[in-house]
Amino acid sequence: MNRQLPRPRDLRPLLRFQRPELRPTRRRLAAALTIEDLRQIAKRRTPKAAFDYTDGAAEAELSLGRARQAFADIEFHPQVLRDVAEVDTAVTVLGGRSALPFGIAPTGFTRMMQTEGERAGAGAAAAAGIPFALSTMGTTSIEDVAAVNPDGRNWFQLYMWKDRDRSMALVERAARAGFDTLLITVDVPVAGARLRDVRNGMTIPPRLTPATILNALPRPAWWFNFLTTEPLAFATLDRWSGTVAELLDTMFDPTVNYDDLAWIKQQWPGKLVVKGIQSVDDARRVADLGVDGLILSNHGGRQLDRAPVPFHLLPEVVAAVGQDTEVLLDTGIMNGADIVAACALGARFTLVGRAYLYGLMAGGRAGVDRAIEILSSQLQRTMRLLGARTIAELNPEHVTQLRRYVPR
Ligand SMILES: Cc1cc2nc3c(=O)[nH]c(=O)nc-3n(C[C@H](O)[C@H](O)[C@H](O)COP(=O)(O)O)c2cc1C
Repeated sequence: MNRQLPRPRDLRPLLRFQRPELRPTRRRLAAALTIEDLRQIAKRRTPKAAFDYTDGAAEAELSLGRARQAFADIEFHPQVLRDVAEVDTAVTVLGGRSALPFGIAPTGFTRMMQTEGERAGAGAAAAAGIPFALSTMGTTSIEDVAAVNPDGRNWFQLYMWKDRDRSMALVERAARAGFDTLLITVDVPVAGARLRDVRNGMTIPPRLTPATILNALPRPAWWFNFLTTEPLAFATLDRWSGTVAELLDTMFDPTVNYDDLAWIKQQWPGKLVVKGIQSVDDARRVADLGVDGLILSNHGGRQLDRAPVPFHLLPEVVAAVGQDTEVLLDTGIMNGADIVAACALGARFTLVGRAYLYGLMAGGRAGVDRAIEILSSQLQRTMRLLGARTIAELNPEHVTQLRRYVPR
């Protein structure tokens, strides 16, 4: 072999120095390629109690682990030699358009995770053309969310309180602010046992103790934001200084039943969706009541541990409720390919909770934008590789659910 000295002419095309990104948040977010990457950044930047409140689930956290595993345990079946130069990810859900087949799930205490909270979520949803859901336990008011996302779709999530008048006052405010859909969450007759919160002594707002101060030292940005922006308060209820579980148990009404659902339905002018359905029977019952949709969800594993995996229930529920009731799904979505699998098996739409919150904690509004961008690019790539140009072209032949648990 003859060797030679490299010539500058040959070296030049190999030198590809890029101008470094000097804004640290942008640099961090650009380096995140998956939702798990955003989770790792979030963990480094958020105080332990707030991170664990978001990341954690109930009891031994088996429900959440199984839901994520169920998505990992699918097999995709690509159909080749289709022209997939263009893909269209838009869907119609609950009477309106969404540019992508997922929206932002309702989450409580969102400003505790990162001070921009719901404003970041609603703003990012507006920019992406997807719906944003505000929780009863949200930390930004109904009207402020409407102001951030004035032309997009806002949904309001209702927890039925013991005080019915106060619940319905919220519903009226949401209707007045132009929210088009009401999600009634029915899987919280009592709070789930979130053991990480108990172990961390988590309170809202967070308490300054020697342990939290020590934990705060490597996370100065979170505390700077927390201390220099408006104090953390619930947008819809008074201040509370106990644990989340104590608050839930004081507020929520364990007597809520099917009659209440029918009663709420009479008063809400928009679309009505029941969130937290976990059996084929209950799906049929709410469909018979004439609701517009139901969400197969176990609350991200935060309520009943070892509850059924919503994704496993999906095909049977879709077959049971027929065309008139839209079936939505959440719990465990960490990748755009999970959303593709859910749509292929008949979900009209999906919601993402933690995937959005990891982005929020990793970088505020820019972090939520990045989370949506990651999910969207995974989704589009998976559609192309499967040979599907539209969400409607996805069908059960594209996916096999592999069974890990077989009932005895
Ligand atoms: C931190 C956190 C707070 C939540 N708060 C609420 C809430 O106030 N109301 C509600 O209906 N669901 C709430 N959920 C459940 C979500 O709406 C959604 O069902 C769940 O996050 C989906 O699972 P995923 O996080 O794996 O995407 C919360 C979830 C998280 C992670």
